[in-house]
Amino acid sequence: MTVTTCIFDAYGTLFDVTAAARLAAAEPGRENLAAIWPKLAEDWRRKQLEYTWLRAVMGRHTDFWTLTQDGLDWALEAAGLSDPDLRERLLALYRELQAYPEVPAMLADLKDRGLATAILSNGSPDMLAGAVASAGIGEFLDDTLSVESVGVFKPDARVYRLVTARFGCPPDDVLFVSSNGWDAAAASGFGFRTAWVNRAGQPMDRLPARPHHVLSDLSPIPEIARP
Ligand code: LAC
Repeated sequence: MTVTTCIFDAYGTLFDVTAAARLAAAEPGRENLAAIWPKLAEDWRRKQLEYTWLRAVMGRHTDFWTLTQDGLDWALEAAGLSDPDLRERLLALYRELQAYPEVPAMLADLKDRGLATAILSNGSPDMLAGAVASAGIGEFLDDTLSVESVGVFKPDARVYRLVTARFGCPPDDVLFVSSNGWDAAAASGFGFRTAWVNRAGQPMDRLPARPHHVLSDLSPIPEIARP
């Protein structure tokens, strides 16, 4: 088996989703947020993802930007911080998330080794285009695939099939990289080679399949994909 194609989850994997709350908390006049931003960021992310799974089970798809706002509204209310100005600021920061520091060099190395590269994300196409542009990584990506073209969220197999259809390859030619343990596990079940980027040292998800590699950041990806 030779890996020809390296596919990345977006939010939390290439882009640091905690940055929006962390940066807003450092701004003048946001002392209330400064005290609790890690919990707000965690609640926001957890609710955003829960809503993707619930909507998939309910057959009530809507785009990820709507769910990003719904998750934030839940988290702000839970924190007692339902302030429209703060809400707008957090959403603006979410639209221009930075990539983790090792991302540009890691993607450049993959291209040097001759691999195809792309994002496969729950994100809606306009969100992903904004994040790719603000992180300055578009030159290293062959494509950005969004679940919006199949109208259901990860980990539905129709989403992973977007990759094999786009690149015309069998699943085991693909190295799929995600910071979400459930996403990496489901992608293993689909037949991809997988790497779980477990920056927070979380326990392994108890799901029917497991990631093939567990990493603490993205730096080893080129060597794993094509030694
Ligand atoms: C994504 C979410 C799962 O980018 O992080 O698809």
